[in-house]
Amino acid sequence: MEVVILADATQIAGVAADAVGALLGRKPDAVLGLATGSSPLAIYDEVVARHDAGLVSFRQARGFTLDEYVGLPADHPERYRNVIDRVFVSRVDFAVGAVQGPDGLAADIPAACAAYESAIREAGGVDLQIVGIGTDGHIAFNEPGSSLASRTRIKTLTRQTRTDNARFFGGEVDSVPTHCLTQGLGTIIEARHVILIAIGIRKAEAVHHLVEGPVSAMWPATILQHHPHVTALLDDAAAHRLQLAGYYRETYRAKPDWQGI
Ligand code: GLP
Repeated sequence: MEVVILADATQIAGVAADAVGALLGRKPDAVLGLATGSSPLAIYDEVVARHDAGLVSFRQARGFTLDEYVGLPADHPERYRNVIDRVFVSRVDFAVGAVQGPDGLAADIPAACAAYESAIREAGGVDLQIVGIGTDGHIAFNEPGSSLASRTRIKTLTRQTRTDNARFFGGEVDSVPTHCLTQGLGTIIEARHVILIAIGIRKAEAVHHLVEGPVSAMWPATILQHHPHVTALLDDAAAHRLQLAGYYRETYRAKPDWQGI
């Protein structure tokens, strides 16, 4: 795993936007894996700015979101489908219908999950997956205990995740849905490049396990240690507990500019 420690979310956004731009430059019909949560917001803003400047286009690209709450009404502002439209998709030039998400309102949930897996496969798989990390080490909504080989399925959210996400529901933990659909760890790991973003001291413990801990279902993000191309973009606070922080900084500083992540 390449670990890149930067000063703040703005610098992280610049590096991630470079990777998105480079991918679309060589593969205009690339498939992007899009994450919700606050961590990727600065990246989306930076990519939108580059789109507005004519530097990048999503006209031929496609996208898949990672997860979705079960049961939120179609027009609920916190439904991830609506969130990703608001923060990113509607601000650039994706074709209508080019970005899909798991259907949290499906009557037949196992069928909807299987259909989502097929859609990703039929699109040729995800080229670049952007992912955040929960304070409990989840990626997407793969909570601790998730099978490291899991596929898209329904999960029960932990109280910690519902408490963390209550800020989007008027501070009311009871307003946060109890269930979600999420790409599995086995699904996410098939993306060709994974960029994980972690910002702030609240992520330091999860990042410590992610980068330097043993691979364990207790810290689901650790499955990424098995992936050949993962870039962890961290701010100083999120990297606070890394034993080899000095080594990661030195390695990144010595990297030639042309190489990218
Ligand atoms: C949610 C999302 C995850 C996200 C995590 C962290 O639970 N399902 O995909 O990574 O929150 O969110 P944030 O980036 O806001 O800290």
